[in-house]
Amino acid sequence: MNTKIYQLNQIDEAAAAIQRGELVAFPTETVYGLGADATNEPAVKNVYLAKGRPSDNPLIVHVNSVAMVEKYAAEIPANARKLMAAFWPGSLTIILKIKKGALSKTVTGGLSTVAFRFPDNQPTLDLIGKAGVPIVGPSANTSGKPSPTTAQHVYHDLNGKITGILDDGPTRVGVESTVLDMSTATPVILRPGAVTKQDIEGVIGSIDLNHHQVGKNETPKAPGMKYKHYAPSAQVYIVNEGTDWAKVAKLVAQQPFDVGVMAEERILQQLTLPMNAVQFSLGTGVEDASARLFDGLRGFDDQPNVKAIVTEAFTAKNLGRAYMNRLNKSAGGVHFDPAQVK
Ligand code: TXA
Ligand code: MG
Repeated sequence: MNTKIYQLNQIDEAAAAIQRGELVAFPTETVYGLGADATNEPAVKNVYLAKGRPSDNPLIVHVNSVAMVEKYAAEIPANARKLMAAFWPGSLTIILKIKKGALSKTVTGGLSTVAFRFPDNQPTLDLIGKAGVPIVGPSANTSGKPSPTTAQHVYHDLNGKITGILDDGPTRVGVESTVLDMSTATPVILRPGAVTKQDIEGVIGSIDLNHHQVGKNETPKAPGMKYKHYAPSAQVYIVNEGTDWAKVAKLVAQQPFDVGVMAEERILQQLTLPMNAVQFSLGTGVEDASARLFDGLRGFDDQPNVKAIVTEAFTAKNLGRAYMNRLNKSAGGVHFDPAQVK
């Protein structure tokens, strides 16, 4: 199978493929998703197969209306309705109790809850509308790799495994949606994203943030959290705020291989880097950095001589919390240590 790139005037064709039970990747404002008809069990199973995703990791159901959520959720609490009104379409995924038997176990990983998301991307909302069904969508990457922020990233990982990709250019936000569990008494953020704790508390009052790190054999609240994530082939090192980048450059120069250097433009411009450094600009500020992070990490996977990557840290507040959450996972928590540089 050769994976087709659908242009924005071919949404009808993409929707027909979804209706036939085939897989079509779709754009959102965060990252590209791997789409299938959420009500078609074999199609949903194929999503796990194409990604190489563990079957206990549930999928987000993408909708284009609150009415669509009502078909599958046991109930929508008043606070959830407020958040939907405030942030949909947008980067907030809301977990609710499922209406018994409304969606297959394959979608929910056997949980009694289901995650709903109303993405801020018109072509994808049209795709859902034309297909007439909610569309499941994990990030459209091979499991374990950074999420795709362009149709080309999806093609790289999934060419030959899926029918097509609806191409809407690079995504705007770049890190996946905030996942908020509203199936419990106090809502809790399971994954930070562009919609922040503060944003949510501004609408419904105090909520929790899940800080708990789960071990391999524990069942975390968001099952996806226990798996290796966002990891390029090269080891990533986090460069803390306030680090002297001249020391980073010195350590890079001492390596017998190429090193990827991901930092803001202002840092790259004032830095003299050795020949074996491969620069990637994170632009200016945490919004640019979030939009570019996965593109940078993925790009180094195609450069086999790059065996380490140093990446600029940002303050972990607001969007920075989501950026640092993803960067920490891609680095496995490893930091650049200036004391190592002689
Ligand atoms: O921005 C996004 O959310 C993207 C775009 C494509 O919409 N999607 C995405 O999906 O990131 P995925 O599957 O890569 O991440 C979904 C996360 C996983 O960590 C999963 O375990 C968690 O949400 N999740 C899904 N359903 C859940 C549920 N019922 N209870 C707890 N966690 C859930
Ligand atoms: Mg993912």
